[in-house]
Amino acid sequence: MGRYIIKGGKRLKGEVMVNGSKNAVLPILSASLINGKESVLTNCPDITDVSFTCEILKALGCSVKREGKILTINSCGINNASVPKDMAEKMRSSILFLGVLLGKFGSVSINKPGGCAIGKRPVDIHLDALKALGANIVETDTTIECTAENLLGTDIYLPFASVGATENTMLAAVFAKGQTTIHNAAKEPEIWALQEYMKSIGVTVEGAGTPTIFISGCGKYKDAEVDIISDRIEAGTYLTAAAITKGEIFLKNVSWIYMCKTLEIMSECGCEIKVKKDSIYLKAPKKIKPLNLIRTGVYPNFATDMQPILMSLLTTSSGTSIIIEQMFENRFSHADELNKMGAKVSAQTRVAIIDGVKQLKGAEVNATDLRAGAALILAGLNAKGTTIVNNANFVKRGYDNIEKNLHGLGAEIKFCDGEN
Ligand code: EPZ
Repeated sequence: MGRYIIKGGKRLKGEVMVNGSKNAVLPILSASLINGKESVLTNCPDITDVSFTCEILKALGCSVKREGKILTINSCGINNASVPKDMAEKMRSSILFLGVLLGKFGSVSINKPGGCAIGKRPVDIHLDALKALGANIVETDTTIECTAENLLGTDIYLPFASVGATENTMLAAVFAKGQTTIHNAAKEPEIWALQEYMKSIGVTVEGAGTPTIFISGCGKYKDAEVDIISDRIEAGTYLTAAAITKGEIFLKNVSWIYMCKTLEIMSECGCEIKVKKDSIYLKAPKKIKPLNLIRTGVYPNFATDMQPILMSLLTTSSGTSIIIEQMFENRFSHADELNKMGAKVSAQTRVAIIDGVKQLKGAEVNATDLRAGAALILAGLNAKGTTIVNNANFVKRGYDNIEKNLHGLGAEIKFCDGEN
């Protein structure tokens, strides 16, 4: 598990190179099964969600090699469709193997990915889309069994613009006869990144980033080399680290165009922001301004993954803010932990009221999920005294060396694993 120990009060200043996006690379790793050839992914973050997914690829018969930020997968040796049970339960994103394995093998059984701290996270939209393509699906208490004689291209209407369901459907549709059109598709940049990877191996796919995506398989695939897009949530986390410590930061290797809503909100909080092609500069105000009302929503609205991180910042503001979490039914577990640090957050199911306080104080707190853990680290950077953030494993799922980057900006932070 491990924990982070942070001595707060240091003003952060400096520059950070943003890593590749976790939520872009995970579906691309599933897609790397399609071509039965080599895929080279550059700017690939070294995080546990990626290493866990690479274990699944190896269990399926693929070869995987990492050299620094370059990950090379060869799926020519894929020889089974069995995602290891423990992996499927540990990694929610293992559900992204369902569509591609069904397409490749005609039959796949996968353990149901568990819910998690932020919500039940059902997969009904994924399964209904696969049924529309011709899959027969039987659910037991613990598994999802899918078979398909042939997958047939068709029009699929997603009831909600689910990121994962859009990705799963794109991957299954490659193997369907004829064209598939996905309506009400998710528009996140990570969907566009998946499309660009699929195009690079020879799939005919268009429309990612819009509500309508067109896919038709091709059968003749190629080797590929793609650069993973920058992680917009990691970037937002570092911007907030500077903002919550009255500091300033220069982010490199970042596509600010994917972060317009976050940047708009940071400037409403009083931050000075300047953007260039692949960089963002932020200078914090002396005091963070409160925000009347912030709602999370599907892209390009304010990202739910940034909600815990923004909440930390708002606990230090000069007034009262309200956040409405519209994406997940239980994504305020960090509020109680922030209150242990002297914050004043009153959170019900989907609404949180944050009254800014003069000073957070160091405390021992528990990360309950990836972004909640990051939010608590940020609060610790601001707090007077020492903060211990337990369950560091959650943070390591999505942040590549966060303690090294924050230390480089002047933070007093260290990671301690279970032993010391
Ligand atoms: C992706 O999860 C991200 N994960 C999440 O990031 C992110 O919070 C989420 O999209 C929303 O942007 C990855 O990309 C690996 P959804 P996903 O399907 O695909 C409901 C992080 O911190 N829903 O868009 O699971 C669901 O319950 C993680 O990096 C159904 O009801 O999100 C939720 O309320 C956390 N039925 C809403 O839709 C379904 O079949 C959004 O879920 C699927 C989803």
